[in-house]
Amino acid sequence: MRTAATVGDLRRALAAYREQGQRVALVPTMGALHAGHLSLVEVARRRAGKVVASVFVNPKQFGPGEDLSRYPRDPEGDAAKLREAGVDLLFAPSVEEMYPAGFSTTVHVAGVSEGMEGARRPGHFDGVATVVARLLGLVRPDVAVFGQKDAQQVAVVTRMARDLGFDVEILVAPTIREADGLALSSRNAYLSPEERRKAPALFRALLVGQLTYELGERKAARVLEAVRRALSTEPALVLDALDLVDATTMQPLAQVDRPALLAAAVVVGKTRLIDNICFGGPAAAPQETPR
Ligand code: PAJ
Repeated sequence: MRTAATVGDLRRALAAYREQGQRVALVPTMGALHAGHLSLVEVARRRAGKVVASVFVNPKQFGPGEDLSRYPRDPEGDAAKLREAGVDLLFAPSVEEMYPAGFSTTVHVAGVSEGMEGARRPGHFDGVATVVARLLGLVRPDVAVFGQKDAQQVAVVTRMARDLGFDVEILVAPTIREADGLALSSRNAYLSPEERRKAPALFRALLVGQLTYELGERKAARVLEAVRRALSTEPALVLDALDLVDATTMQPLAQVDRPALLAAAVVVGKTRLIDNICFGGPAAAPQETPR
């Protein structure tokens, strides 16, 4: 595995891949890598001859008072995991390299980025769209892989790539979970052992919502009520947000009559956890399944 810390190094490595006629896949991350991230690498490897992974803790997507300064960092561990997973090129730029003096562009994706997490974390998706646009521009990958864990991010990036004419296929990989259902997340490292024990109640409550739908309930309000009730059995998890939306547009649904995304955020101690589940049709299903 090669490592590029600068745009120049990145361009040189990419030029060699193109000369060899290789397809290139991009897996953007913020590091502190776990099996969820590595599952994206696996999907990428099946779709391209060369896999580029980026590790960059993007300051633009953290709001004031969010966890930028304490976000977990493990550059050596990350490099070892990516090498082991078969990544060809690691792009790990500094903030100055990613946003050189004079950098002035912000990408705002109206609509899909404005509800849900976008409404609760102002500027977050502008930061995501801006860094992903820059990465797509620098790497010009044939495919880029994102996780269903961050479902609204997938919708924002997909819309942005289409609107700006990036010639890239956006692939979505399913959420990787611990055996007890907790979605893997770099932020799980913040949980105390007791909080960690209680955290899977988030996914269990989402499953109750899915089951309510599968048993025939189509009124969104009733599905959401079932989730709220399930979650209230675990007082350590404080519900911060709960949405049932169209899986593509992220607009709220009154009736679950099309592919839908049920998404929740809870606060456990000082840690905010998000998770989601899709139901209501094949279009809502993740497009790629790692082996
Ligand atoms: P990060 O949180 O590091 O996540 C990188 C990628 O891994 C995202 O596409 C995310 O959805 C995926 N991922 C995280 N947990 C996962 C899990 N349990 N199963 C499957 N995939 C999972 O998301 C970001 O970074 C940033 O916003 C980024 C896109 C890199 C832009 O800065």
